[in-house]
Amino acid sequence: MKEFIQQLPKVELHLHIEGSLEPELMFKLAQRNHIDIPFASPEEVRAAYQFSNLQSFLDIYYQGANVLIHEQDFFDLTWEYLLRCQQDNVMHTEIFFDPQTHTARGIAFETVLNGIVAALNKAEQELGITSQIIMCFLRHLSEDEALQTLELALPYKDKIVGVGLDSSEQGHPPEKFSRVFAKARAAGFIAVAHAGEEGPALNIRNAIDLLGVQRVDHGVRCVEDAALVEELKQTRMPLTVCPLSNLKLKVFQHMTEHNIVELLRQGLCVTINSDDPAYFGGYMTDNFLAVSDAHSMTHQELAQFTRNAIEASFISATEKARMNAQVDSVVARFSA
Ligand code: HPA
Ligand code: ZN
Repeated sequence: MKEFIQQLPKVELHLHIEGSLEPELMFKLAQRNHIDIPFASPEEVRAAYQFSNLQSFLDIYYQGANVLIHEQDFFDLTWEYLLRCQQDNVMHTEIFFDPQTHTARGIAFETVLNGIVAALNKAEQELGITSQIIMCFLRHLSEDEALQTLELALPYKDKIVGVGLDSSEQGHPPEKFSRVFAKARAAGFIAVAHAGEEGPALNIRNAIDLLGVQRVDHGVRCVEDAALVEELKQTRMPLTVCPLSNLKLKVFQHMTEHNIVELLRQGLCVTINSDDPAYFGGYMTDNFLAVSDAHSMTHQELAQFTRNAIEASFISATEKARMNAQVDSVVARFSA
């Protein structure tokens, strides 16, 4: 099973590029940019990654991002993530970035975006990995600040496929951002949002109805509303689930209690993703392995996670067909 999971072609739809900052690169960039960090070694950084909930993670995650200053830093960050994608047979990835985490520190929007884009372009040429970029608004900040960030993004519309919503879900429900999402959609951006990670099922419903999202990030608390689960199933609304993240942030206490396999078997469009892999203990293959170790699954069921992600991705029908053929070929090889 391990070999099958390693070889299985994958598509990632929920990855915060700032969350792929490994402690070793954090150290290197801190030295290169003369930035003080409150740790003596990468091992000490890793030891500090003990989280009790989403907020306890976010506090450390925003602090870690302080070492990212120059375009080259954002390039290095993104390139290291893409090398992990290559190792894990990720064919396509749709990554989030949080512009406000950087513009609030005086880093220009285009410095961040240019570094990320340069690495993604190199990966397409040299590794054959395709990608899209989604810009997230930080929901603990105001809607006016999100509107200002949307203005900054308009000149780069050709490089950013959509907008998302992340950070602290508790106390910052989707409806706080209905104006900025309407404006973004009118400008041609696709919408997604984190909902139903720590917040209630109602946030999932409101993200769909009030923000017009085409995917729900996390969404695992949908099970608290049976009618909503039925609707998600009927509409094939994708959920970008992040198993290791959910364990680390105590959304579930144990992987055997995670509902992703049950939702898959009910016919929902659930997908496996890594969220913030440097903080949560694993990239795509690790997430697949963790789910498969805790739940007895067939090759076809595991492959269905990738088929769902292909269906849920923001790419052309031609690209989707090409990726589905790659999945077919690996499944056939392992059933021979
Ligand atoms: N939830 C909310 N905000 C985030 C996350 C998450 O899982 N990861 C990075 N920012
Ligand atoms: Zn996330």
